[in-house]
Amino acid sequence: MTALERYGRDLALDKLLIVDDEETILKQLRWAFKNDYDIITASSVDEALSAIREHSPAVMLLDLSLTDDTSELEGFEVLETALSIDPRIKVVMITGHDDMENALKSIGTGAMDFYAKPIDVEELRVILRRAFYISSLEGEIDRLKEGYAPGHEFEGVMGMSKPMLGIFEAVRRIAPTDVSVLITGESGTGKELIARAIHNQSTRSGGPFVPINCGAIPENLLESELFGHEKGSFTGAHTTKTGKFEAADGGTLFLDEIGELPSALQVKLLRFLQDQIVERVGGEEPIQVDARVIAATNRDLEEMIEEKAFREDLFYRINTVRMSMPPLRDRGDDILLLATRFLHRYSSEFSRGMKGYSRAAIDAIHSYRWPGNVRELDNSVKRGVIMAVSNLIQPSDLDIPFDGDTGGEKAGEPASLDVAGEMTLKEAREKLEKGMVVAALLRTSGNVSAAAVELDVSRPTLHDLMKKHGIDAGDFRAPKDKK
Ligand SMILES: Nc1ncnc2c1ncn2[C@@H]1O[C@H](COP(=O)(O)OP(=O)(O)OP(=O)(O)O)[C@@H](O)[C@H]1O
Ligand SMILES: [Mg+2]
Repeated sequence: MTALERYGRDLALDKLLIVDDEETILKQLRWAFKNDYDIITASSVDEALSAIREHSPAVMLLDLSLTDDTSELEGFEVLETALSIDPRIKVVMITGHDDMENALKSIGTGAMDFYAKPIDVEELRVILRRAFYISSLEGEIDRLKEGYAPGHEFEGVMGMSKPMLGIFEAVRRIAPTDVSVLITGESGTGKELIARAIHNQSTRSGGPFVPINCGAIPENLLESELFGHEKGSFTGAHTTKTGKFEAADGGTLFLDEIGELPSALQVKLLRFLQDQIVERVGGEEPIQVDARVIAATNRDLEEMIEEKAFREDLFYRINTVRMSMPPLRDRGDDILLLATRFLHRYSSEFSRGMKGYSRAAIDAIHSYRWPGNVRELDNSVKRGVIMAVSNLIQPSDLDIPFDGDTGGEKAGEPASLDVAGEMTLKEAREKLEKGMVVAALLRTSGNVSAAAVELDVSRPTLHDLMKKHGIDAGDFRAPKDKK
C-alpha cells in the first residue's frame, strides 16, 4: 500500500463542490461524477461559501461566469474568498471558450487549473482526478510535517508497527493495575519512555514519576539515594534525607538498569515489594510507602540468576509483567515515521528548512541495523540536519554505512548515481566547487596563493569560497607550518 492509499483512506478527501448557476449543468455534472465523489452543489456565491465552511470540500469546480444579475467577477470573488477560508482547497475554474485572459487570471488568483467550455465529461474527469490527487498529497505532506499521522503515537511514543501496537495495547491493559513491570530491551529502544507511558496511563498519573538509574550511582551512595538516611547515620550525613522510594509515594518508582543493583539492596527492594515498607539508612522506624515499581534492564536477568548475580525471588516479584521492547530494526515503517519526526524537530530547532531524505538515504536507513536503536536514529538525524549541504539529507550526512560505500549488497544503480539524480544543479555545483577547492589546497599543502593560481581565481575569491564552504587552509598544512 502506498502512503497515499494508506492516508487517503481515512480522510474525507473525496468531497467535490460544484458551483454553477445553471441547474441543468449542475444536474449533468452531479450525474457524471456521482460514483467518483461525494458531491455538493451550489448555485450562488453565498451557497458556495457556506458549503465550503460546512463541508470543507477538497476540490471545487467553479463556473467563472457565475452570475446572479451582476458580472462574472462573482466567480473570482468566490475563488478568492474560498482560498481565504481554506487555502488548501483545489479550485478548477470553468471558463468560457475563448476566455484565455480570465483563465490565466484565475490561475494567478490561486486556482489550480481551468477548463474551457464546452464541457467534455471524460476530460473533466481526468482534471478532477488530478486535483484530488494533489490535494491528498498535500494532506500527506502536512501529516509528515507534523511528524506523525493520527493514531501513530501513544503517550509520546511513536509507532505503528505491529510489535509497537502490541506494546501500546499491553500498556493500556496493565497501566490501571498496580503490578510491578519489568521492561527489557536493547539500549535506546524506549524503555524509559514506556515506563512513563505506563505511569501516565495509570491511576497514579497525578502522583510523581521518580526515575533512578541504578547503574549510574556509586554503590556506597545508592542505598541512601533509594532509601534515604537519618541525620548522623554516617560521616557526612548532616541532615535527614528521604530516598527515592519515599519521593515516589503515591506515584511510580522507575528503577532503571535494575541488573546493576547490588545484592544487599536487592534484599531491601524485595522487602519493599512484599510489604511496601522501607527503612532509611540508620533509621529504626519502618516507613510505609505506596509506590508502584517499574524496572528496566538491557541485561539478561535469567542469565544473571544462573550466575548468582541476581536474586531469583526478586526476579519473580518484578517480573509479574514483562514487556520486551522490540529493536528498531524489527519495527518496519516505524523507522521512517521516527526519522521524519526527528527531521522536523531538528530542522526547526536549527532553522534548517529541511525537506526530507534522498531515496538513497531512505535505503540506507532501512538497511542499517541501528544497534543503538531509537536513540541512535535520533542522534544520526540530528547530525544529518546539521551536516546536510542541501535541504535533502543524503546517506553520508547520516554517517551510517550505505550501499555506496559498503560495496553495495543491493542490485540496481549505484547509490552515488541515485544521489546525483536527486541533487539540484545548484547543489551539484556547490559540491563540485567545494571538492575542487579542497583538492587544490591538498595539492598545495594549504598554500592559498598557489591554490588560487591553480584554480585560476583571485586570492580574495578563493578566501571567499573557503569561508563559504567552511574550509580552513591550516588543515592542509604540515604541522610545523601551522600557527
Ligand atoms: N517510540 C519512540 N518514539 C519517540 N521517541 C522515542 C521512541 N523510543 C525512544 N525514543 C527516544 O529515544 C531516546 C531513548 O529512549 P529511552 O531512554 O526511553 O530508551 P532506553 O531503552 O531507556 O535506553 P537505554 O537502555 O540506553 O537507557 C529518548 O530520547 C526517547 O525519547
Ligand atoms: Mg533508559
